[in-house]
Amino acid sequence: MAVTAATDHAPPIDGMKVFGFMNRVMTDMSGAVTSIMCTLGDRLGLFKELARNGPATSHELAERAGIDARYAREWLSALASAGYLEYDPETERFVLPEEHVLALAAEGSPMFMGGAFQQLPGLFGPLDELTRVFRDGGGIPAERYSHDLYSGMERISAGWFEHLLVQQWLEAVPDVRERLERGADVADVGCGSGVALLTLARAFPESRFVGFDVFPASLERARARADDAGLNGRLRFEEHDVLEGLPGRYDLVTAFDVLHDLPEPVRVLEGIRTALGPEGVFLLLEINCSDRLEENTGPFASILYGTSVLFCTPTSLAAGGDGLGTMGLPEPKARALCEQAGFSRFRRLPVDNPFNVLYDVRP
Ligand SMILES: C[S@@+](CC[C@H](N)C(=O)[O-])C[C@H]1O[C@@H](n2cnc3c(N)ncnc32)[C@H](O)[C@@H]1O
Repeated sequence: MAVTAATDHAPPIDGMKVFGFMNRVMTDMSGAVTSIMCTLGDRLGLFKELARNGPATSHELAERAGIDARYAREWLSALASAGYLEYDPETERFVLPEEHVLALAAEGSPMFMGGAFQQLPGLFGPLDELTRVFRDGGGIPAERYSHDLYSGMERISAGWFEHLLVQQWLEAVPDVRERLERGADVADVGCGSGVALLTLARAFPESRFVGFDVFPASLERARARADDAGLNGRLRFEEHDVLEGLPGRYDLVTAFDVLHDLPEPVRVLEGIRTALGPEGVFLLLEINCSDRLEENTGPFASILYGTSVLFCTPTSLAAGGDGLGTMGLPEPKARALCEQAGFSRFRRLPVDNPFNVLYDVRP
């Protein structure tokens, strides 16, 4: 097919590039639709069923998972065509390959993507409102997003906290680990549903923990978790806006994947510094990104920029904030804000993680 330029004066169009790009667009479109298939699979427990009880025909899966056989057939076919499942034409059975189980069915694994698939419809929920704020300015308050968004977020980070926080991240700061072992007072800023603090409270029985957040639904889940784990005496969660500073004094303050979302990050950092004693430590987990836009490329960066457009930026702007965005706090900016807030030491810890970076910040 001949590909012509839009005007006589425009440079000639490279037909191969056009088809190459169309191929890319189709691949992304397929990824979007396949991800929604995965959201359904996660909701209905279909991947977990295939992982637990092995290959199935559509009728077998329908019976085992308690779903309609016609939908089972269509869903299985969609995922087989995408290469997420394998299909054996002899037996008409669909197989979830062992290598795909960690990402699709192993809840709590650091590679598990179920939380991300759950999060997707939550991110798209206020799309009409987002279109309006693109035109008129303003933001979208956090409570306008559905439970799927918050629960999905929680499942994504749970895998990191449970597998990396104590085992890897604290290994990089041995003096903090020792203090936690001896008994320390710890505050977590923007604690969400409390998985990080719960993990720490279990690992360090001599220490005391408080989590602050403004989102009541997350705090409710956090308190239920502490209750179930019998940790209520040493682990509590309070509804508190960290823009107002932190009530109390602490040996350690943590902020996991929060600062870039906050309306006035320097004000919050000042509150954290004030709440720390001179020997106190602030551990800051932020998104692993570059301060050069041209270096933030590839699938991970585009997912994060998309998340920024759909959630981080509109919620920050709704709270009257700076709207830094998900990728808005690369190392030089994080360092500058901490200095502005009066911290004198700032060190990136040698933690090997493609998603996050961890900073050791001290007064
Ligand atoms: C991306 S979530 C991270 C939650 C948790 N740290 C984690 O990693 O799972 C950001 C959290 O910051 C909370 N947050 C936003 N603004 C806040 C404020 N002004 N004061 C306290 N918490 C806030 C949100 O409610 C949300 O739970």
